[in-house]
Amino acid sequence: MIKNDLFLRALRGETVERPPVWMMRQAGRYLPDFMKLKEKYDFFTRCRTPELATEITVMPIEQIGPDAAILFSDILVIPQAMNIEVEMRPGVGPWLPNPIRTAADLDRVVVPDVKDSLSYVMQAIDMTKDALNDEVPLIGFAGSPWTILCYCVQGQGSKNFDKAKEFCFTQPQAAHELLQRITDTTIAYLIEKVNHGVNAVQVFDSWGGMLSPVDYQEFSWKYIQQIINALKPYTEVIVFGKGCWFALNDMAKSGASALGVDWTCSARNARYLSGGEITLQGNFDPSRLFSPPATIKKMVKQMIDEFGKDKFVANLGHGILPNIPVENAQAFVDAVKEY
Ligand code: CP3
Repeated sequence: MIKNDLFLRALRGETVERPPVWMMRQAGRYLPDFMKLKEKYDFFTRCRTPELATEITVMPIEQIGPDAAILFSDILVIPQAMNIEVEMRPGVGPWLPNPIRTAADLDRVVVPDVKDSLSYVMQAIDMTKDALNDEVPLIGFAGSPWTILCYCVQGQGSKNFDKAKEFCFTQPQAAHELLQRITDTTIAYLIEKVNHGVNAVQVFDSWGGMLSPVDYQEFSWKYIQQIINALKPYTEVIVFGKGCWFALNDMAKSGASALGVDWTCSARNARYLSGGEITLQGNFDPSRLFSPPATIKKMVKQMIDEFGKDKFVANLGHGILPNIPVENAQAFVDAVKEY
C-alpha cells in the first residue's frame, strides 16, 4: 500500500481533498544537488547506474515534496536497446550518429529482449521502490512511438522534425515497420516496469503536435492506442501529447486513465474536448515559474479553480526549465498542497 495515494486516486477519478501535484522533469537541472551529480557523471551513466538513478529520482521528493516520483531515465533508452546508437551531447542534446533514413536502415533495428538490454532500468526501479518506502507512487514512462521515430530519423532535436515527416510521407511502409517495432519494444518495456513495481505509466508524445490531425491518427495515435490496450489490464496509463488538443476526444475514449495537456489549451477547452469525465493533467506554462512565488501561487489557484479539484493532476504543461529558481518550483508544489 502506498501511504500518499492521492495521485492514484485522482487517476481513478475518485473524490480527493485536493489535487495531487508533480512536475514533468522534476528531477532536473534546477536542483543544485542534481547539478553536482551532472558535473561528475555524463547523462547515460546517470541513467545506467541504478544507485545514481535512484538518488536523482528521490531528490525532488525529499527537497520539493510532490505527490509522485518519476523514475530518472530517458525516452531514448528504447532506441539504444533497439541497436540505434544515441549520444547525449552537452549543449546539443540527443545526437544519433546513424539515423534511420531508408528501409535498408531497418535491417539493423531489432526488437530486443528488454529484460536483458534494459535490465539497468529494472534494477533502478527495484532500488527506487526500496528508497521511496511506499511514501509516494512511482511513475514509469516511455516516449510515444512517433516521438521516438522523430529522433531515430531526424538524428537530433529539431523545431519541425522535417526529416522524420519526409520519411513517413515518402516511405510510409518503412515508417510503419519502424513504428511497430518501437511499439512492440515499448509494450514489453512498460509491462516489465510494472512487474518491477511502478504504480502508473506515462507515454510522452512530445512531438505529436507536429502532425496534422489526420496524420496524427495514422502515425502516432494508432500506436499509442496499442500501448494503452496492452498496459491497461495492469496499471494506470497517462498519455501526454504536447500540442495534441485536437486528439483529446479520441484519447478520452481510449481507456487511458488520464490525459496530459499543455498550457496552450485552456482548462475549459480541454474539459469540453475530452468530454468532461476523464482525469486531466497539466498545464502550467513552465516559463511562468519565472514569476515571483506570490504570482505563481495566485495563478496555480486559478488553474485549479478552472480545472476543478477532482479528476485533475496539477502539473506543468511540459518539462521544468533548467534555470528556474528552486523557491519558485517549491511555490508551485506548495500552492497545490495549500489549495
Ligand atoms: O521527469 C523527470 O524528471 C524524469 C526524467 C526524464 C528525463 N527525460 C531526464 C532528462 C524524462 C521523463 C525524460 C523524457 C524525455 N526525454 C522526453 C519527453 C518529455 C519532454 O520533455 O518532451 C524527451 C523528448 C526526451 C529526449 C531528451 N532527453 C531531450 C530533448 C533532452 C534535453 C537535452 C538538453 O541538453 O537539454 C534530454 C536530456 C535529459 N533527459 C535531461 C534530463 C534531466 C537533461 C540533460 C542532463 O541532465 O544532462
